[in-house]
Amino acid sequence: MLVKVSEILKMADEAKTSVIAFICTDYNMAYSVVKVAEKVQKPVIVMLLPEHVYDNNTMNVSGFAHMVKELAAGVKVPVGLHLDHSYDYRSIIESIRKGFGSVMIDASALPLDENIALTRKVVETAHILGADVEAEIGHVGLAQDSAQDVSDYYTKADAAARFVEETGCDSLTIAIGNAHGEYITTPHLDLERLDEINSATDCPLVLHGGSGIPHDQLEIAFTKGINKFNVGTEFLGVYFDAIAEFVHKNEEPRPLKMLEVPEFVQERLQTYLEEKLKLSRF
Ligand code: 13P
Repeated sequence: MLVKVSEILKMADEAKTSVIAFICTDYNMAYSVVKVAEKVQKPVIVMLLPEHVYDNNTMNVSGFAHMVKELAAGVKVPVGLHLDHSYDYRSIIESIRKGFGSVMIDASALPLDENIALTRKVVETAHILGADVEAEIGHVGLAQDSAQDVSDYYTKADAAARFVEETGCDSLTIAIGNAHGEYITTPHLDLERLDEINSATDCPLVLHGGSGIPHDQLEIAFTKGINKFNVGTEFLGVYFDAIAEFVHKNEEPRPLKMLEVPEFVQERLQTYLEEKLKLSRF
């Protein structure tokens, strides 16, 4: 069942846990997320990262939204549909019109006042159109930079409180030692800072850069206000390994073998998802 992302985050908050939002590029991934969610009876969110459309040509925006809505309609468990990192007003509004009821404006690279102004503008229009908005304060960088000290970019509790108040965003992405991509060294979430941010605002908090964060840290973070947890790289890695395994097992070039790829890959993806969703304690 398709459910508004803000509703799912409310459910997560009540259960003192986090919903997991998986970046998907195609049907194999989206289908597997929805199928496993129904199996384990937990809400999930399927996300599209716009750069996968515009840079990698994986899918188009409305096609993705329709695909997820049809998959969600086939199950009883809540499924959310969300557009991940978007940077400009026009493309966000266009994506809402193309079917996304939840979007992210990431203006975190801008100075705070400009971030607030652009986020507020997106929120005002999105809310008129009935869509939820996630926004970012502090800056979640790339994991490849994690060997450097990036603590200057960490979210500050007072700025977070002001940001939520002035923008009206529905959820807030924070930087507490997490980063996107493959970590060079094991990340250590600043859980004290998370506590401070959680006390400073009632807004559901979002943790990006989910691949590679040790599960013991996540378990704690999920009880301290993180209600949405984004995973991308790790899931793509499972997909890549599944394809490699399939090719290795089928070295003879037989065209119709291609038709066996989806089921083979989906089984591997679903094994991973079932394990990952144990973290989400609904
Ligand atoms: P990873 O690719 O590091 O898991 O991060 C995903 C993410 O945060 C997408 O917004």
